[in-house]
Amino acid sequence: MSKLTKAIVRKPGKNFADGISTSNLGKPSFELALDQHAAYREALKQCYIDVIVLEADERYPDGCFVEDTAVVTNEVAIITRPADPSRLGEEESILETMSKLKKIERITAPENLEGGDILRVEKNFYIGITKRTNVEGANQLAQLLSKYGYTATQVPVKDILHLKTGIAYLGDNNFIGVDELRGIAQGKNMIKVEQGEEYSANCLRVNDSLIIPKGFPKSKSQIVRLGYNIIELDMSEFRKMDGGLTCLSLLF
Ligand code: GLY
Repeated sequence: MSKLTKAIVRKPGKNFADGISTSNLGKPSFELALDQHAAYREALKQCYIDVIVLEADERYPDGCFVEDTAVVTNEVAIITRPADPSRLGEEESILETMSKLKKIERITAPENLEGGDILRVEKNFYIGITKRTNVEGANQLAQLLSKYGYTATQVPVKDILHLKTGIAYLGDNNFIGVDELRGIAQGKNMIKVEQGEEYSANCLRVNDSLIIPKGFPKSKSQIVRLGYNIIELDMSEFRKMDGGLTCLSLLF
């Protein structure tokens, strides 16, 4: 995995609780979400990341989930096109920030693609086909990535919000994920998350560290055996809004 040096994050807004949620875990606390977001930023800094912090954009209750707005490689930032009408437009301020840092490409209308559906495994990008990412959006991304020497593989995803809600690549041929997505890890090592611990499939490898969500002991006991430097974060308030560790940053 190449060394990561920067992250873009956006603080949750006061209307964070008005975002899209299917979790049935109740309303999040805005104050606690701010604290958890601050802890997340600190964790990235511990991993030698220069964190660019955008202030909340109150037009978009889900705006802290910046991962969905771009796919970023060493060479390029591909600005996406979120599918839900309440999220379409979040990408514009990311475009503004990214334009100062990277060459830009874009997913164009009317197609949709969200970064949560993109799982990078070395030089290949798995693209989840979900309610948020359509085949035509995935084709656009594959074509753009091929200009920069990357390949792409489409993966139909059922019953999961985003592809990365269900699987993470930890590096070194190690994955963690739900059984439905085991095909991606074929021939590699995959920690299968147990029933009730599905949320722990969303982990975030940052340089030598692995950030994992707190409160999933069965997954944790398997993850520690892999020998990574583990940072555990309480993600309770973001989980209530269907967000995970990867959702909160654009890392590059
Ligand atoms: N609440 C995050 C999403 O649905 O995109």
